[in-house]
Amino acid sequence: MDADISLVVDGTTHRVTIDTRTTVLDALRDRLGITSPKKGCDHGQCGACTVLCDGRRVNSCLMLAVAFDGATVTTAAGLAEEAGELHPVQESFVEHDAFQCGYCTPGQVVSAVGMLDELADGWPSKVTDDGADLGDEVRERMSGNLCRCGAYANIVPAIEEVAR
Ligand code: FES
Repeated sequence: MDADISLVVDGTTHRVTIDTRTTVLDALRDRLGITSPKKGCDHGQCGACTVLCDGRRVNSCLMLAVAFDGATVTTAAGLAEEAGELHPVQESFVEHDAFQCGYCTPGQVVSAVGMLDELADGWPSKVTDDGADLGDEVRERMSGNLCRCGAYANIVPAIEEVAR
């Protein structure tokens, strides 16, 4: 069964007819040609496909596009475009050399932006250790974004710097 939906992706409205089983990720990549969100596992386990849907970070490979009809979607490419320059999180990733192959980076950056918004909104800490520091908080909140190269030693400080 097909459905007509609209998505506002990085400030541009797209109208598309999709099979109702199409995920947000496949709608973005295969139907709209927006390739910033990456397909890693396609099972909600790696975070490479992370986008912001109406401001909340989601694994777009797990979400059916029909459920997001009319939603505002922000990708890593949109973060840069909206500001007219790199987003502070993107700048910090560059300054800290927070990537190796770079495949997970768009999802990491979008997730970090969503995480920082959660902190700003006063979302309760998920870190329970008494001695937890900001790095622990970042590691816990970013645990849904995997880097198979193991660049966490630079990713965490890059996010910490923006969070301070
Ligand atoms: Fe969506 Fe891995 S591709 S979580």
